[in-house]
Amino acid sequence: MNTIHILSSTDRPGSNALKVSGYVKEFMDDKANVELFSLKDFPYADVVGGKYGEDIESVKTFNKAFLDADGFLFVVPEYNGGFPGVLKLFIDYLPFPEAMDNMPVSFIGEAAGSFGALRPVEHLQQILSYRKALIFSERMFIKGVDKNFDRAEGLKSDMLQGLLEDQLNGFVEFVEKVSA
Ligand SMILES: Cc1cc2nc3c(=O)[nH]c(=O)nc-3n(C[C@H](O)[C@H](O)[C@H](O)COP(=O)(O)O)c2cc1C
Repeated sequence: MNTIHILSSTDRPGSNALKVSGYVKEFMDDKANVELFSLKDFPYADVVGGKYGEDIESVKTFNKAFLDADGFLFVVPEYNGGFPGVLKLFIDYLPFPEAMDNMPVSFIGEAAGSFGALRPVEHLQQILSYRKALIFSERMFIKGVDKNFDRAEGLKSDMLQGLLEDQLNGFVEFVEKVSA
């Protein structure tokens, strides 16, 4: 089985991204070795003051564990029409240039609003394309997340749940093909 790391892409307490990530991990657990990472555990305090390019042990440890995978699934909330600033800071402290080279990546957006984090996901796609990741074509957008998602059951709409399952099954296959 391949290894897929999920990133809950915010440090907000009680985050919906973390709940969605937890649900998705359970769904994928019998299909891949899945591990869940959260930006609430990234050592932000150690990068305050512009430590770009410096060797920071805590950052190296977080990044090394996260990057040790065959593919990455980003679960991304929408904040002010974009993705959380802490996600960009995390990306800016990844090893450059190689961290994402030829790595399969997939995206789930979640938001209170009607577009389900379409804008943040598309922006993140641009950035990860620049970092030479391999973007999986199916994305998922969860709008009105508090109303439409349940931590135990997934998405309340059968149609959207079907799309989510197709995306996750397809991503596992995509990672297998790239790894083979
Ligand atoms: C700082 C901040 C900005 C937000 N901006 C938007 C927004 O632009 N569009 C939107 O639909 N929802 C917005 N929301 C609502 C979030 O998308 C929604 O609560 C989401 O579930 C938050 O994800 P999280 O619980 O993982 O932090 C915002 C929430 C926060 C905390």
